[in-house]
Amino acid sequence: MNSTSLSFIAKSIVIFLFINSSTQGVVQYQIEGAIGPESFAFDALGEGPYTGVSDGRIIKWHQDQRRWLHFALTSPNRDGCEGAYEYDHAAKEHICGRPLGLCFNKTNGDLYIADAYFGLLKVGPEGGLATAVATQSEGIPFRFCNSLDIDQSTGIVYFTDSSSQFQRRNHISVILSGDKTGRLMKYDPATKQVTVLLGNLSFPNGVALSEDGNYILLAETTSCRILRYWLKTSKAGTIEIVAQLPGFPDNVKRSPRGGFWVGIHSRRKGISKLVLSFPWIGNVLIKLPIDIVKIHSSLVKLSGNGGMAMRISEQGNVLEILEEIGTKMWRSISEVEEKDGNLWIGSVNMPYAGLYKYSS
Ligand SMILES: *[C@@H]1O[C@H](CO)[C@@H](O)[C@H](O)[C@H]1NC(C)=O
Ligand SMILES: *[C@@H]1O[C@H](CO)[C@@H](O)[C@H](O)[C@H]1NC(C)=O
Repeated sequence: MNSTSLSFIAKSIVIFLFINSSTQGVVQYQIEGAIGPESFAFDALGEGPYTGVSDGRIIKWHQDQRRWLHFALTSPNRDGCEGAYEYDHAAKEHICGRPLGLCFNKTNGDLYIADAYFGLLKVGPEGGLATAVATQSEGIPFRFCNSLDIDQSTGIVYFTDSSSQFQRRNHISVILSGDKTGRLMKYDPATKQVTVLLGNLSFPNGVALSEDGNYILLAETTSCRILRYWLKTSKAGTIEIVAQLPGFPDNVKRSPRGGFWVGIHSRRKGISKLVLSFPWIGNVLIKLPIDIVKIHSSLVKLSGNGGMAMRISEQGNVLEILEEIGTKMWRSISEVEEKDGNLWIGSVNMPYAGLYKYSS
């Protein structure tokens, strides 16, 4: 295996986001009644973005009306799904759904959805209620589907299930326990078969195909690594380490300017670093009757964590760093989707999507 560690200052061009400056920075696209636009997709006409939020809805940005409108759902049951997001949404995710990864089939307009609770689904170009495509593989049910990408030339869908043990609500436990039950899969629409490509992964998260379709980049969150899984060429079926990151990676998206954007959920320091060196501490913490998510996020806040993303080259070198300075408006960045000189910024815990005009 080849490991490339990142040298930050030397190789990088750093873009800092001065989010509290009025003249420069990120425009917020406020979301009504929900938080957490985790991932973005644009349809075949280039419209959107579309994003999944904390109450289970998939919403679409309508530029002409300058607002988000309802597009699709992954659950037929909406009982109590419209409650206050601070208290109700995380508790009702298993009922309302939590759509994470989104990708359109550009040929027929179907939207594929990786829902943390309902597995792999799809919905037609008019939206509405999505239908299940796959809920298990090799007899093991999906417990935490997370991200997907489609090879538009072959029609094959690549997607991750982050854990067979823990659900999204307990995503911190996936990290703290050192869980290795995550899987990378492919779904072939011609045969309707799901195949496991890689198992025993430590919180596999974002996936993105290379432009030539020869490999997939895969974020492995717990190990803070970006992995490359070869699909074609003589290396097909093998895996290599592309980058070791300073924080927990979330989604990976190909940049039209080359390389890939990686959203960094939070930096690896303090408790998480300690716990990762001693996996047994993680297991002890999980058994304690306390809310690990809260403890974790308060520590993250104390350590001055701000949102961060980076664009890495195919070789894993850092090309750009996008970092929040000074404000606390981005506690974490889940994804950066670059389109037409705009960077769309997603987060699992903010009530808005961000738009940063890259070219001006
Ligand atoms: C995308 O649409 C085309 C045309 O209908 C179809 O042949 C292909 O299998 C679809 N891919 C997926 C992933 O559904
Ligand atoms: C995971 O690891 C176990 C034990 O090392 C092995 O038997 C199994 O085949 C692996 N599963 C996958 C899908 O790689």
